[in-house]
Order: sequence, then C-alpha cells, then structure tokens
Amino acid sequence: MPQLIRTSVTPLYHQLAQALRAQIRSGSICAGQQLPTERDLMEIYHVSRNTVRLAIDALEREGLVERDQGRGTFAAEPKLQLGLMKLTSFTEDMLERGLKPGSRMIDCKMELPPPAIAAKLQLLPNEEALLIVRLRYADAEPMALNISYFSLSLCPGLENEDMEQQSIYDVLGKKYGISLARAEQTIRAKSATAQEAGLLNVKTGSSLLVVEGTVFTTENQPIEHLRSIYRSDRYEFRVNPVRIS
Ligand code: GLP
Repeated sequence: MPQLIRTSVTPLYHQLAQALRAQIRSGSICAGQQLPTERDLMEIYHVSRNTVRLAIDALEREGLVERDQGRGTFAAEPKLQLGLMKLTSFTEDMLERGLKPGSRMIDCKMELPPPAIAAKLQLLPNEEALLIVRLRYADAEPMALNISYFSLSLCPGLENEDMEQQSIYDVLGKKYGISLARAEQTIRAKSATAQEAGLLNVKTGSSLLVVEGTVFTTENQPIEHLRSIYRSDRYEFRVNPVRIS
C-alpha cells in the first residue's frame, strides 16, 4: 500500500483519494467490489476518520464509488459515455459498446399530445401522435426510459410495428425510407419519482438525466418528440467544445 506523504502540501484526504482512485482505475479494486471499511482505511493509511470521509466524498462526487447505507462503499460500474454530437438510436449506442439492447413496452397508443409537443411536431389541430414509452435495457440491466411521440404523417402504420423487438430508427429507415438528420435537445437533471425508480431499479429521489427535444428528417420535418430519461449512475454525456474567437 503506498503510504501518504505527511510533509506534502497536498492534503492527506486528497492523497488518499488519489491512491484509491488509482486502484479503481487500474482494476485492482474492480467494479462492484467493496472498498476497505472506514476503520481499515484509517489503519492502513494512518489517517483520521475525517480524512477517510473526505476522500470517499470526493470519489463519490466523481462517480467512482457508491455508498450503500449499512453495507459499505463499492467501486461503481463504469458509466456509458454518450456523445452529444451524433444522433444515434439506443440500439446503436448499446451495440457499439458490445451490449445487448432490449426493450419493455410500457405504453403504446395514439393520443393528442400536450399542446407544446404538438406545436414542436407541427401537428394539425386535433391531430394525434403515437406515444411510445419503452424501458430500455443493456443486457438485462434497465438503463433508460424512452418516452416519445411520433408524428405519423411520414410513417403511417408505425403503430402496428413490434417496437419491443425492433429499433424504431431502423424501422423508420428501412420501412419508410426516412433519413433522420438532426435533433434539437436539452439536458437537465431530475430526481426519480417512485414509478421511474421502480422501472429503472434505482432509489426514489436519486438523480436522473433527462434529454428532451425534437428529431428532424433530412427534409427538415419534425418526426419525433423525445424525452429520454437516463440513470445518472450509468451515463455521462460527452461534449467537445471548441473556442470560437
Ligand atoms: C434514443 C433516442 C430516442 C429514440 C431511441 C430509438 O434513445 N434518445 O429518442 O426514440 O433512441 O431507439 P431504437 O431505434 O433503438 O428503438
């Protein structure tokens, strides 16, 4: 075990966090594995309880560890990184990472969307859209909730497709010859309601990431209004900004 340098200007909790971070990143503490207890860490590194707590707090904020009340602290599963510059389907995202995409249909019906969504989809007055709510899985783990309205003027009959077994974006392309071009999206945080928590297998009140927006075809027609709700313990979004002078 590397010892901490007491004479260093770097605070002890910072050095301890660095030591644990290195073990998690190198895989010597692997995902899901329990970290030594507070007491063990105090003994191994000859530090106070407060130093251990500050170090673990820092790792928790970075998403590297998770505290489970009463059970201990565990190395977190690595997060799935989603780029924000590529318009991809859930199926593509999972396959790209070697995971098996899956869906459970929660709701699928024609209905009048809320007026703000109808306006985004440029629907006619009283025109219904297809609401599809699916719980999305990576292998057997629930990862996200997709709540989408599709404007059927471009894809009549979409409601008859089996959306549990197929990729919607695949069907739009292959069956309807629709090429998706771009989306306008926002990302925000929300805490999980009891229903969302039950579906996503997280605790009620835990933080989720919501991506909301509209998807447009190459003809610049809005086709989908989406609200995708991701587990923040399993996802992070990547942005590569450039400086514009
Ligand atoms: C992503 C998008 C959703 C879209 C879904 C389609 O999750 N955020 O808006 O509905 O992909 O996924 P698939 O083609 O796998 O059904």
